[in-house]
Formats: sequence, structure tokens, C-alpha cells
Amino acid sequence: MPEPMEVQKGLQDVVALQSRICFIDGLQGRLIYDGYDIRDLAANSTFEEVAYLLWYGTLPTPARLDDLCRQLVALRSLPPELVALIDAMPLDSSPMDVLRTAVSALALFEPGETKPGPTSIGGAQRLTAALPTIIAQFHRRRAKLPPLRPRPELSHAAYLLYAILDRDPSPLDARAMDVAFILHADHELNASTFAARVTASTLSDLYSAITSAIGTLKGPLHGGANERVMELLDEMASVDRVESVVQAKLAAHERIMGFGHRVYKVEDPRATILREWSRRVGEERKNLTYYDLLRKLEEVVHREKGLYPNVDLYSGSVYSLIGIPHDLFTPLFAASRIAGWTAHVLEEYTDLRLIRPTAAYVGPTDLKYSPIAGRA
Ligand code: ACO
Repeated sequence: MPEPMEVQKGLQDVVALQSRICFIDGLQGRLIYDGYDIRDLAANSTFEEVAYLLWYGTLPTPARLDDLCRQLVALRSLPPELVALIDAMPLDSSPMDVLRTAVSALALFEPGETKPGPTSIGGAQRLTAALPTIIAQFHRRRAKLPPLRPRPELSHAAYLLYAILDRDPSPLDARAMDVAFILHADHELNASTFAARVTASTLSDLYSAITSAIGTLKGPLHGGANERVMELLDEMASVDRVESVVQAKLAAHERIMGFGHRVYKVEDPRATILREWSRRVGEERKNLTYYDLLRKLEEVVHREKGLYPNVDLYSGSVYSLIGIPHDLFTPLFAASRIAGWTAHVLEEYTDLRLIRPTAAYVGPTDLKYSPIAGRA
């Protein structure tokens, strides 16, 4: 038998690589992108500015930001072959399955003359610009909405809102979405970013790395948690039922979605910001039902389990109030995390070493092989 080896299950606390992109202080509840505190970025910045920061490691000048915004708008449209493929997908498909398949297929159909280098910043921008259009192309067909218009005057987040809702978002909704996109743009070596970096570390291309990331984000312990939070709110329905629903779930050893985090030991700073946006968007609609339920849920879960909210607790309430269907929450997450995923993949290419950990083997090593014909 091999010597027993110490295993860090889930790679918890394993430092896998160096990165300049994102720092999480899990004890202080701080999140930093390239040196800038998420609270400053959420208060003052835009998704496009944050994407520039993540890709280039520095804030843009006004001229550089204008160039990037123009470039992202120019890269929004999809090759006709990909539109046809998305239009052929079953209408009851999971939008995350559509997104994963479409990103993978996009690599096949990029027109030769504009095809970005497979490991280039052009590829990062192309994928970032294309994700909202892919999501909208599928959603608008199933929702029987008219064909998408280019809308070059709309930002990344506002364009996605227009594309899903088929109306211009209010300034408050557009800003709420932009802030949500800033908050979701990166988060160090979360599972989907790690998956992207593992793929890139084999010198595979950006489209393959992002396909890996989307498949990883889909799981309910990662990007899918906010959809489950909304199911929980529907189940609770009123503040006086929160206590009993939580108690029943904990007694059944079920997890309460939107709580707990591998790195944060205090409140996730993104939850703090989104709590405020959940209140603002609710107040504008004179509907604080979700907000009140979530506040009570926080109180009970903290008292019973000592757990703090994560980013997924409040995001779903903001999206729901704006009118976004629940099964588009995780695709929206992808449409913002694409900035961080691609930044990490580009960083991986510049400091490349094949990511290949080791397993502690726990099986036998000296079994005697018997030919198949002789086995009962
Ligand atoms: N509800 C109830 N109990 C929980 C929760 C929760 N949300 N989170 C952790 N715990 C408990 C576990 O049951 C476990 O208890 P035990 O030791 O008695 O078995 C203990 O806390 C430790 O849990 P782990 O799963 O080992 O902790 P880990 O660091 O792996 O968990 C995770 C992090 C997966 C996010 C977890 O907190 C969870 O499942 N939360 C709910 C899902 C969720 O909200 N995911 C979104 C995360 S943010 C993001 O990905 C964008």
C-alpha cells in the first residue's frame, strides 16, 4: 500500500497559484479587484470599467474606456450559423445548457477574418460581448419576443436587461444590474474560475476554458444557489412561516441556500451591497415582500447555524423584482463572471504550468488479474 497522504478535501485552504487579479479577505469581509475595494467599485464604477481593470490590471482613461465600450458593442452580434443552432435547441432547454453549448459552438463559427486569437484579449472581449446575445437569442424565442435589435447606446448590463425584458430598463433597474455585474465580475479561485484555469493550463483555447467554466458554474452549490433562494422564498411565502420552514430544513439536514461560504467567515461584502439594492428596487415598486422575508431568514439562520449571507442571498430578489425569469439568474452570473474568467485565463497563459494535482490512492495494489472468460 502507498504511504497515507494528507488530503485537503475540496482543496480547502490549498494555495494553488499566484494571481494579481482578486483578493478576498475572508476574515475582514473584504473583496479587492486589482487593488480596488469592491465597495468603491460598486459605488462609482461600471461593469465595463471593471472588465478593463480585470483584463489590464489598471483603471482605464476616459478614452480607453470609450474604446472598450465601442469594441464590446461591435462584438455583440453572433454568426448566423450559431443563431440557427440556438434556434434549433429545444425550447424547454436549461438556459445554462444553451449557453455552454453555444459558447463551445461559437469557436467553430467565428468568421475567419474577425476570428480572435484563441488565447488573446480579443477573445476575452468577444466572449464577454457575445454572452448577453446568446442568452437573449434563446430566451426571446421561447418567450415569443420580436428579434433582438443591436441597441449600441446600451451598456452591457442594460442591453441584457432590454434583451430579456423587451423594454428599456428604468435608470434604477439598469444601475442595480450594473452593480450586480460589478459584484459578480470576479471572485478569485472559485470553482468555475479554477475550472477555466485548469483547462487553460493545458494550453487549450479560451472558448474551451469558458465552456468548462460555464459547466462548473451551473451547479447549485455555486452559481445556481440564487434560483434556489427564490424557491425557498416562495415556499416560505410570509414572514411568520420563515422560522418553521428553516427549522424543518435544518432538521432534515438540508442546506439553506444563500448562506455560508468557503472563504468568508463573516458577511460576504457583496451580500451587504445587494441587500441595499434589494431594498431600493423593492421600495421603488412599493414591494418589500422579498426584502422582509430575507431579513427574517438571515436572523433565523444566523441564530440557528451562525452562518452569514453570501452573494446569492439577495441577488435573486433584485432580479425577480426587475422581472427576470428565475432560470436566467445563473446565465446572468456568467454574463458578468466572464470578465473574471477571461482575465484569469489570460493570466494563466502568461504564467503557465500544467495544473495537475495528486490523489491519495486508497484502493488495492496487488490484485491478481483473471482473464474475463474465467470470471463468474
Ligand atoms: N446551510 C446549512 N448548513 C450549512 C450551510 C448552509 N447554507 N453551509 C454550510 N453549512 C454547514 C454544513 O452542513 C457543514 O456542517 P457539518 O460540519 O455539521 O456537516 C458545515 O457548515 C461546513 O460545510 P461545508 O460544506 O464543509 O463548507 P464549505 O466551505 O464547503 O461550504 C458552501 C461552502 C458550499 C457555499 C456552503 O456554505 C453551502 O452549501 N451553501 C449553500 C449554497 C450556496 O449558497 N452557494 C453559493 C455560494 S457563493 C457562490 O458560489 C457565488
